[in-house]
Amino acid sequence: MRLIPSVSFRLMYRLGLTPWDSGIPPPELIEVIEGARHLPTGRALDLGCGTGTTTIYMATNGWQAIGVDFVPAAIRAARAKAVATRLAVAFLVGDVTRLRELPIEPGFDLLFDQGCFHSLPETAQPAYAGEVTRVARSGATYLLYAFGRRSGERRRRFFPKGVTPDEVRARFSEFELVEARPGTDPFGSHWYTMRRR
Ligand SMILES: C[S@@+](CC[C@H](N)C(=O)[O-])C[C@H]1O[C@@H](n2cnc3c(N)ncnc32)[C@H](O)[C@@H]1O
Repeated sequence: MRLIPSVSFRLMYRLGLTPWDSGIPPPELIEVIEGARHLPTGRALDLGCGTGTTTIYMATNGWQAIGVDFVPAAIRAARAKAVATRLAVAFLVGDVTRLRELPIEPGFDLLFDQGCFHSLPETAQPAYAGEVTRVARSGATYLLYAFGRRSGERRRRFFPKGVTPDEVRARFSEFELVEARPGTDPFGSHWYTMRRR
């Protein structure tokens, strides 16, 4: 039996089973914020932001950043971290497949997703893609980290199904897939860099 995703994630946060919550931004994000591929600062949306590490990192570097997650405990933790840094970062409890229900203006320059899209049920992925497409300005960068396909019973039970580069290209057809960089972890993951047409 599978729990519905919001219940599973609530439970994981409650039990402290959050192995993704490293507290440090990934090098692939650092690269576009202050590294070799750095972008001019603007508005950033962190989809499935968890406890806000990456949202706060972007805000620290001059971005007007908003984090969205559907687990209230994660957003509470993110807000507490933001208060400690004295930064103006907006954290919203909400569903990334229903962004239009949130007080969010479209026109983002950077969209970031580390591990949210691949955890969505397949039936919810079109709504997510529609929302990301709607809120991204033309020319916006979309940096997505997603697990790849893995086989085996253990994977099927405990890990998201994962996606392939071809599926990402098809799902986000209003974006140009600029790069699919294999991750360095054992999840067959990729870091996808996309640009809104
Ligand atoms: C693997 S965690 C990654 C969290 C964060 N991006 C990080 O790297 O620390 C995935 C996050 O996506 C959130 N999430 C999953 N589906 C969501 C949805 N439909 N709407 C909003 N948040 C969602 C979960 O609550 C969880 O915090």
